[in-house]
Amino acid sequence: MNEKVKELLKLREETKLGGGKKRIEKQHEKGKLTARERVELLVDKGTFEEIDAFVTHRSSAFGLEDQKIMGDGVITGFAKIEGRPVYLFSQDFTVFGGSLSETHAEKICKVMDLAMKNGVPVIGLNDSGGARIQEGVSSLGGYAEVFWRNSMASGVVPQISAVMGPCAGGAVYSPALTDFVYMVKDTSYMFVTGPNVVKTVTHEDVTSEDLGGATAHGSKSGVAHFTMENDADCLRNIRKMITYIPQNCEEKVPDVDPVDPDSKLASALDYLVPLNPNKPYDIKDAINGVMDKETFYEVHENYADNLVVGFARLAGRTVGIVANQPLSLAGVLDIDASVKGARFVRFCDAFNIPLVVFEDVPGFLPGTDQEWGGIIKHGAKLLYAFCEATVPKMTVITRKAYGGAYDVMNSKHIRADYNVAWPTAEIAVMGTKGAVEIIFRKEIMEAVNPEEKQKELEDQYTEEFANPYRAAARGFIDDVILPSETRQKLIRAFEVCKNKVDTVPRKKHDNLPL
Ligand code: HXC
Repeated sequence: MNEKVKELLKLREETKLGGGKKRIEKQHEKGKLTARERVELLVDKGTFEEIDAFVTHRSSAFGLEDQKIMGDGVITGFAKIEGRPVYLFSQDFTVFGGSLSETHAEKICKVMDLAMKNGVPVIGLNDSGGARIQEGVSSLGGYAEVFWRNSMASGVVPQISAVMGPCAGGAVYSPALTDFVYMVKDTSYMFVTGPNVVKTVTHEDVTSEDLGGATAHGSKSGVAHFTMENDADCLRNIRKMITYIPQNCEEKVPDVDPVDPDSKLASALDYLVPLNPNKPYDIKDAINGVMDKETFYEVHENYADNLVVGFARLAGRTVGIVANQPLSLAGVLDIDASVKGARFVRFCDAFNIPLVVFEDVPGFLPGTDQEWGGIIKHGAKLLYAFCEATVPKMTVITRKAYGGAYDVMNSKHIRADYNVAWPTAEIAVMGTKGAVEIIFRKEIMEAVNPEEKQKELEDQYTEEFANPYRAAARGFIDDVILPSETRQKLIRAFEVCKNKVDTVPRKKHDNLPL
């Protein structure tokens, strides 16, 4: 082996050490894997090609010229996940706390540019103390370069972020601009200002975990789409996500072998919806009874659970599911559910993923909290998202489709392709009791027996309106079907829409009600 080759091999070994043994041990003591271990777990074995391993920072302030570590705190490169190419970066907390210097940012920008040029998803594993303090504004500029690329890449290639350590200040905006944010319980946090600033400004005592940990963002703010148990769980889940999404906005997700649905759930579909409209049931039983077995991958599981969203496969093809959940707030649409649904629908539409809606919605949630919080503009987001979506879109009305929510939830009128109702469907302006109390108030009050009269009028209303046949008579739904027929009907409907071409009017960009 000649000297030059030996030198390269030695340098290569050095690049693997990051901030050194001691700091690696510290990382492990915190229950965290190192940046390199994470990459190894994330990608298919032996597929990672590192780039820019020899990059060092260019700073000289505060004695930095004597502290150059190859790679400068971030590992970047490309690899395969389930055989599909991805670009990635993984911040190395053992090097200056994973802080972002000008060169660290340049490395991230390089993989993002390559991902855009080659139409490949980008995965970012974040574990960083934020802007490299010694570099001042150069580091802030570096962040802005990353944010700009996140914005340009949005809707072009899928972007996935994992927050696996600190992520504070303006740094949070890079993950926030990406499509899906994974956070790891107990070891990660995201906040714009930390507990000390919070204490000074609002006098609140709060820990990092309570303020911006994975549980807080997975259930309270919705910033995190996935709350993961540990690093390995997080990386496994990102691998799973890749199988449901395409490489870029021009491509479709590769099909996989179809699997029959869970047989127990499939055979129970005809009995799933209780005849009493006030009795809840689990909409996930409907999803799992229709979709390929064990393929439902829920997004935002612990946030706004009155609306269920996630990916699944139908006869081997990825679809995006949006479903009202009668088990939570009777499946009503509120601010959080509307925003959650809108974001998911827009992701699916941007990346050619067809949509299936399971609808059982009594309407929008009333109250001052909701009105003053802007349910009008937030509800409009969900409406807008369904209206502008040009992917094949199907709706299955399982029970209630009341009022404005009927229109919003991918109705025929906003250009859904195939809308069906189960016989238990009630497609009306509102539920029986409310409707009768409004339109027959006088008759009920003046009746000899008001209770009896109300019951009689309710039965009449139910007979006339609380069913799917009025909507079917108008062609507002395409068919009334047995729940057990749903899978086959949807498979056929998607087959015929496979090459759907639809467009929206030419514009610079839309003006979504933000
Ligand atoms: C340079 C940093 C650093 C930073 C940490 N380090 N953060 N170096 N710039 N921002 C270094 C430490 O000096 C230390 O070096 C090593 O990383 C590990 O840090 P520790 O403090 O020992 O680790 P820990 O106790 O786990 O605490 C982690 C931490 C803390 C909570 C992240 O380091 C911290 O508060 N850092 C500063 C965070 C911050 O204020 N960043 C700027 C945010 S504003 P040695 O050599 O001892 O191992 C921001 C603006 C972005 O980021 C704007 C975008 C628009």
